Amino acid sequence: MPDEMIFRLSGVGVDYPTAAGTVPGIRDVTLDVPRAGMTVFAGPSGSGKSTLLRVLALVEPPTRGEIRFRGRETGPLRHAERRALRREHLGLVFQNPPDNLLPHLTVADNLVAAARSARRTCRPAEILDRLGLPGTGAWPIAALSGGQQQRLAFGCALARGCSVILADEPTSQLDRASADLVLETLRELVAQEFAVLVASHDDRLIGLGTRVARLRGGALAGVER
Ligand SMILES: Nc1ncnc2c1ncn2[C@@H]1O[C@H](COP(=O)(O)OP(=O)(O)OP(=O)(O)O)[C@@H](O)[C@H]1O
Ligand SMILES: [Mg+2]
Repeated sequence: MPDEMIFRLSGVGVDYPTAAGTVPGIRDVTLDVPRAGMTVFAGPSGSGKSTLLRVLALVEPPTRGEIRFRGRETGPLRHAERRALRREHLGLVFQNPPDNLLPHLTVADNLVAAARSARRTCRPAEILDRLGLPGTGAWPIAALSGGQQQRLAFGCALARGCSVILADEPTSQLDRASADLVLETLRELVAQEFAVLVASHDDRLIGLGTRVARLRGGALAGVER
């Protein structure tokens, strides 16, 4: 039987060494994340949302504990294997739109470059239609609004063929109209059965969550369905 869980976390902790001593990023997080639907990580500033997303995106290994991705233990993976898994499967979108895109390339070429980084090809026009950005392929990135740039960032994850989309406060730098574009895209990704994992303190985004995992002081304070 296929594993219904895309991630299984057991006792996961991340410590940050600093000059003033060790700062805990997250501690003892045990959590299963289903293969479909939207899981929102909510919690106040400093509660560990970004840290948790980064370890789930295989950007950094945890200090302690185990993360299984698609049934596979990630702890023993070598750096190059983690990077390959990340490129193929895991689309991480950051809060600041320009951090997600290559500003010197056109809209379509951003999609092409994203696909190429996962050794794939893509049809930019199809992805742009799907994202509600038809006809923008030849535009420079700066011609897109913040919300449209975030949509394109999700498009880059689609171009790479990712099945899991992770987004760190994707609406926090946007005005309401731009944030609406992002919420609509997230809704569509969930409807298309992507696993969507979002860190946010935006109540509208939290309201979209199939599950809401609340963090406090780096620990999981509860999971609501
Ligand atoms: N690179 C780092 N070096 C040292 N400490 C860090 C680092 N990154 C995060 N931390 C600490 O880890 C804890 C969790 O931080 P994290 O950024 O994951 O929280 P967050 O919930 O994403 O907060 P925010 O809502 O402000 O983005 C905080 O105490 C933070 O100071
Ligand atoms: Mg954060």
